[in-house]
Amino acid sequence: MSSLRILLIGNGGREHALAWKLSQSPRVSTVYAVPGNGGTASCPKVVNVASVSADDYPGLVEFSRLNNVSLVVPGPEAPLVDGIEGFFRQAGIPCFGPSKEAAQLEGSKTFSKDFMRRYNVPTAAYENFANFHDAVKYVDRVSHDVVIKATGLAAGKGVILPKTKQEAKDALKQIMVDKAFGSAGDEVVIEELLVGDELSILTFCDGYTIRSLPPAQDHKRIFDGDQGPNTGGMGCYAPTNIASKDLIERIDKEILEPTILGMRREKQPFRGVLFTGLMITSSGPKVLEYNVRFGDPETQTVLPLLSADTDLAEVMLACSEGYLDNFHLKVEPKFSATVVVAAGGYPGAYAKGTSMTVLSPPSGCHIFHAGTRFAGEQLQSAGGRVIAITSVGDSLRAAVDACYAALSEKVIQFEGMFFRKDIAHRAFRASSTKAMTYAQAGVDIQAGNDFVEKIKKAVGSTKRPGADAEIGGFGGELDLSQCGYPNAPILVGAIDGVGTKLMIAQAMKKHDTVGVDLVAMNVNDLIVQGATPLMFLDYYGCSKLDLPSAAAFVEGVAEGCRQSGCALVGGETAEMPGMYQGEDYDAAGCAVGAVTTGSRLPRRHDMTEGDVLLGLGSVGVHSNGFSLVRRIVQSAGLTYDSQAPWDASKTVGESLLTPTRIYVRSLLPVIADIKGLAHITGGGLIENVPRMLPEALAAEIVYGSWDVPLVFQWLKQAGNVDPTEMCRTFNAGIGMVIAVDASKADSVQQRLSPSEKVYRIGRLVHRSQETGGCAIHSLGLWA
Ligand code: AMP
Ligand code: GLY
Repeated sequence: MSSLRILLIGNGGREHALAWKLSQSPRVSTVYAVPGNGGTASCPKVVNVASVSADDYPGLVEFSRLNNVSLVVPGPEAPLVDGIEGFFRQAGIPCFGPSKEAAQLEGSKTFSKDFMRRYNVPTAAYENFANFHDAVKYVDRVSHDVVIKATGLAAGKGVILPKTKQEAKDALKQIMVDKAFGSAGDEVVIEELLVGDELSILTFCDGYTIRSLPPAQDHKRIFDGDQGPNTGGMGCYAPTNIASKDLIERIDKEILEPTILGMRREKQPFRGVLFTGLMITSSGPKVLEYNVRFGDPETQTVLPLLSADTDLAEVMLACSEGYLDNFHLKVEPKFSATVVVAAGGYPGAYAKGTSMTVLSPPSGCHIFHAGTRFAGEQLQSAGGRVIAITSVGDSLRAAVDACYAALSEKVIQFEGMFFRKDIAHRAFRASSTKAMTYAQAGVDIQAGNDFVEKIKKAVGSTKRPGADAEIGGFGGELDLSQCGYPNAPILVGAIDGVGTKLMIAQAMKKHDTVGVDLVAMNVNDLIVQGATPLMFLDYYGCSKLDLPSAAAFVEGVAEGCRQSGCALVGGETAEMPGMYQGEDYDAAGCAVGAVTTGSRLPRRHDMTEGDVLLGLGSVGVHSNGFSLVRRIVQSAGLTYDSQAPWDASKTVGESLLTPTRIYVRSLLPVIADIKGLAHITGGGLIENVPRMLPEALAAEIVYGSWDVPLVFQWLKQAGNVDPTEMCRTFNAGIGMVIAVDASKADSVQQRLSPSEKVYRIGRLVHRSQETGGCAIHSLGLWA
């Protein structure tokens, strides 16, 4: 067995974790740590080296030659950005890390942002500025919240998240005019603020093959509850429950693979470890930043999850030498958590040289030193993030608890020590805030269904030729050809109201959109029976007629009728003093359409396993679930005049009043080529999709296969609404579902695409007891 000598550059917790894992390799005889820390000093096979400085690259090459070093592992980004890889390449010594050119992915925000644009890697909207006045003008112009980043390296401090435009301008002045970060502030990137959960992915790469470690979540802020200034990272856990298998696949496909391919296209193949910082937004994963080295504290968290027989030195050599496809990382099916212990005052001024005691940790725990050193025999603090404890357990809870149990048993002690008490809180949060449901908001879908059961008898008694008088479909049907009108089509009628969305219109005194909702709710119900909507009638009830608001309402109804090709043939305005409160009004409407026998939908007999489900994008909440929406808005302390947290360009009320999408004109031309349609109204995807299906089939839908409008992400979070409840109450981003033969799915999708957002959201499968009529997979993404 050849003996491998490794030169490891750096002195943080990351480097201690690397030294710990590298030293377990049977091939490794020595790890030289330059300069190393108190932890590496006491690691088996590791020697701290003080005779050469970490930034003296020719000196490091010389040292490596003298000591027969056969692999160099730079820990931090600075040597990589400086081009250390080139020094060793020239000397013929393998170096685990990217070339100077490839290291620009981290070294220059301008480079990485332009790179992402060139290769369609999803990231926040951004612009570069070298001129202060242009930057200020841009801040004034954009409607989204911004993040300001100094282009050059600024020791992790070059990122500012201003709360107001004024704060943004002040920050620009500090960076660009006052040069708070020196020349790193010559150029800035102004980025769109992304909202969601952050994820760190570490990916080994040899320029072609990628192998990722389990997704981790860092805790950047200094205080519990993610408060206070940014730090290098105060704790971490992995794997994270947000990163489902589907999401990981999506990240590979949409982000990692295009990145690695892009770097080859740039003739700068990426070798080493790529750290991708992601934000999991409601429209999918987006890159916050690339780093060209391991993360700190992510490394301390994820390396202990690698199986004992995974040889890190072999993997690193494979990356540098181009044969990573030989390796699969063996990851234990466990959870890991890391709590960083910092010196009091960090990330501001803090004491160094404080004496420390560190006991050997309980089994399953590891201690990784960061800012420590030995002064003779005495261990002392030497940095802000001083030391960390990592535990591995069968559950995340067990891992986190083990860290805090060890800390409370004082395995680490020094004066002024400080650590966060809530590591992994995002993973646990769903169970901590009280979850809201639609039923609590006063609406019980089950009660509604029970009611339909109760009245079926009365309805049945109205049977006549042409109408079977059965209810439960989207619209009601009457076959005119059986009523003495030979060759006449089937009449289809629908009736509906707007629901408590009206209360928002009334609160906002904006009455011209809910009429569109009223028509939409009805005509979308007609089209799902295959019917062409022909005429509409509306009803408007109030205590006292207010002409301008009633006229605005009817104008909305007319607009909806124009959008769906319906004639507004009649209506009723009822003034009933004392019936409603103040200026309240209620509204209902009825649409009538026609369909020939051969064109009726759904074609349940034609449906088979494997049929494709297409989803048409919704434009927000549409007209269902508003009792819950209003409750969540209220509990979040917002008024309808507040800026919408999910859309900075609108108020809460304006955004919520966006009228329901009318799908009639888009769908009519493809009706002959599809098998079924489901209008997603009350009951959401889960209850509405099965309405078009035969008994034997169920819908299998993959959540995340469409863009979920931000408003749903916000409702979910602000109301802590369970993902299933979200899909039972709201349209969740899909307003209409189409069942189509797999062979026709592409052409139908293409024909609809000019006017609709069309997604392939799932397929039909055999119905079983567990699935029921509609199973939504990957709902965990919403957890
Ligand atoms: P960076 O050094 O670019 O990773 O930024 C450091 C931290 O700032 C990130 O981990 C995020 O917490 C935050 N951040 C950076 N860019 C954005 C953005 N566009 N939207 C939201 N948060 C961001
Ligand atoms: N933990 C974040 C980083 O290493 O950049």
